Amino acid sequence: MAGEPDWGAVAEKFDLWLPHLAPVGEALIEKLQVESGQRVLDVACGTGEPALTLARRWPNLEVEGVDAAEGMVRAAQTKAEKEGLSNVHFRVMPAERLDFEEETFHRVVCRFGVMLFQDSLKGLKEMLRVLKPGGRVAVAVWGNADSLPSFRWHHQAFESRLPKEQLPPLDKVASLGDPVALHQLMTQAGFQDVEVENRQVEYHFDSIDHYWNTVEASQVLAQQFQALPKDQLQQIRDEVTLMAQEYLVDGRLVVPHRYVVGWGMKDG
Ligand SMILES: C[S@@+](CC[C@H](N)C(=O)[O-])C[C@H]1O[C@@H](n2cnc3c(N)ncnc32)[C@H](O)[C@@H]1O
Repeated sequence: MAGEPDWGAVAEKFDLWLPHLAPVGEALIEKLQVESGQRVLDVACGTGEPALTLARRWPNLEVEGVDAAEGMVRAAQTKAEKEGLSNVHFRVMPAERLDFEEETFHRVVCRFGVMLFQDSLKGLKEMLRVLKPGGRVAVAVWGNADSLPSFRWHHQAFESRLPKEQLPPLDKVASLGDPVALHQLMTQAGFQDVEVENRQVEYHFDSIDHYWNTVEASQVLAQQFQALPKDQLQQIRDEVTLMAQEYLVDGRLVVPHRYVVGWGMKDG
C-alpha cells in the first residue's frame, strides 16, 4: 500500500523498534499458553518476533515464521542461524495464502500484522485453517488513532505537505483498534471463545532527539522523506519535537501507545 514502509527494504533497520515492542510479544506469549513439543506459527513475523523469543525459550517447540517481505524473512533466518537455533525456520509467504496443510499447528501468533494485511479476514481464516482442533491463536493490533501519539505526530507533520496516498497509513494501522472490531473479525473468521483486551505499551527514549534519530535510522518514513525537499525535513523534525513535548518526563520521552490483544480457539 502506498505510504506504508517498504518492509523488505527496511528489514534489518526494523530491529531498532524491537526493544519497544517486546512487552507486546510477552502479552501474546502469555495468551498462547504454549506447551513443550508443540508446533507454532508466527504470521507476519517481520525480522523474527515473536518466533525467535518462543524458539529460544522453549527449545522443544517447532516454530515457523512467515512474512510477505523477503528482506524481513532473510533477516529473521540470519538471526536464527547466527544463534544456532534449529527449532525455528522462516519462509516468505502471504498471510492470505498460507502454504501449510490444514490442522498443522497447535498455536498461531501474529504481532502487529493483521491490520496491515490486504485482506485481514482472509488472513485470520487462514490462521484458523492451519490450526489444529483445540489450538489457540493470539494476535496484537494497534489501538485507534487517538491512542497512538507517535503515529499521529508523523501523520500530522506530513499531512499538509504530501498527497493523501503518500501519507503514513494511520487509518490502516488503526483500523482494528476498537476491541469490538477485532472481536467481530476473529469471530467472523470462525474462532471460538474469542476474547479481546486493551493494553498499553510505552516507548522509552533518552530524549526527543533520540526518538527522531531512531525514526530516521529505521527508515520507516523513508518514502515520505524522499518525497520532500531536504529543507522541509528539519521543519518536520521541529514540528514533531513540539508535539512530543507533552510526553517528556524529566527530560526523557515516554510515549504510551494502546494496542489490542485478541485470542481464541479452534473448535475441537
Ligand atoms: C509492523 S511489522 C511487524 C513484524 C513483527 N511481527 C514484529 O512485531 O516485530 C508488520 C509485518 O507485516 C508484514 N506483512 C504485511 N502484510 C502482510 C501479508 N499480507 N502477509 C504476510 N505478511 C505481511 C510486513 O512485511 C511486516 O514484516
